Amino acid sequence: MFRNDLLKDKAILITGGGTGIGNSIARKYGSLGAKIAILGRREDVLKEAVDDFRKNGITASYRSCDVRNPEQISQTLDFFQEEIGPIDVLVNNAAGNFVSPTEKLSPHAVDSILNIVLHGTIYMTLEMGKRWIKSRRGGVVLDIVTPYAWTGSAYVVPSAAAKAGVLAVVRSLAVEWAKYGIRHVAIAPGAFPTPATRKNLFPLEGMEQAMLERIPLGRTGKLDEIANLATYLVSEEASFINGEVVTIDGGEWLRGAGEFSGLSVLSDEQWDMIKEISKKKTTTK
Ligand code: HXC
Repeated sequence: MFRNDLLKDKAILITGGGTGIGNSIARKYGSLGAKIAILGRREDVLKEAVDDFRKNGITASYRSCDVRNPEQISQTLDFFQEEIGPIDVLVNNAAGNFVSPTEKLSPHAVDSILNIVLHGTIYMTLEMGKRWIKSRRGGVVLDIVTPYAWTGSAYVVPSAAAKAGVLAVVRSLAVEWAKYGIRHVAIAPGAFPTPATRKNLFPLEGMEQAMLERIPLGRTGKLDEIANLATYLVSEEASFINGEVVTIDGGEWLRGAGEFSGLSVLSDEQWDMIKEISKKKTTTK
C-alpha cells in the first residue's frame, strides 16, 4: 500500500524491536527504505532479528540496552549515530505487563512495569528530544499505548497507569516541542497476540478465546496491520498529525463502553419480541 521508497534514508530507532509488534514495525520500515536501529534487553534476540533484516537487504543495527537506564540510553544513541547516522524517528514500543489482582502486587512489581513503560519511554524521548533540539533536526516520536490508557483496566493497573502517563506525554510534547519540528503520535492497539502477550496476558487456556468474543470484528489484529498504521503515522504523508492517538482494536473498547452493546447476544426472535413489546401503546395513569 506504500511507495517502496516512502521511508528512504530515514534512520529509525525502535525500542523492543527484536520481537512482536516492534519487530514487525521495524521490518516494514526497513522494507520501505529506512535504516533500522533496534534495542532491547536480550542481545541474542536482537542479533537474530538484525541478521534477518540484513539478509533481506535492510541496513540495520542493534544494541542491548535497558530503557530503565538513562546512561545506557545515552551510550546507545551515540552508538547508533555512528552506525546509521542521526535518528529521524523514535518508536517507543518496549513494554512490560502481566495480569494480576492488584492487591497481590508487591511495590517491586509495580515499579517494574512503571519503570519500563513510563520511565523508560520518557527517558528515551527526553534523550532523543534533547539531541534533536540541540542539532536543530526535527523528528517524529511514535508511542505504542493501549485503549485502556483512557478507560483504565482491572488486573493490569500498573500498565494502565503507565500507558495513561505515556499518552499524557504525547499530548503535552506535541504542543511543547512542535516549535522544534518534533511531532508526536501514538497507536493504541487492542489484541495483537504475540508470544510475550500470550505468556503474560493470556496464560490460561480459554483466556484468549474469551477476549476474542469481546471484539466486534470477531478476530485479533494482524501484525502487518499495525505496521502499516505505524508507517503512515511516521511518514511525511502524516506530517500534519500531531498529538493524536489512533486506535486499532477491531472496535473492542467501544463495545465495552456502549451501554447497549451487550445486546449483540440477542437472537432474531428476541429482537422480534422486543419490537412487539415496544410498539404497544404505553398506558399512562
Ligand atoms: C505477580 C509478578 C508477576 C506476575 C512478575 N512479578 N510477574 N507479580 N504476577 N505474573 C513481580 C515479580 O515477582 C517481582 O516482584 C517484580 O514483578 C519484577 O519481576 P522481575 O521478573 O524481576 O522483573 P523484570 O525482569 O524487570 O521483568 C519485567 C516483567 C516481565 C514485566 C515482569 O514480564 C517482562 O520483562 N516482560 C516484557 C515483555 C512483556 O511483558 N510484553 C508484553 C507487553 S504487552 P518481587 O516483589 O517478587 O521482587 C503491553 C500492552 C498491553 O504492555 C496491551 C495488551 C492488550
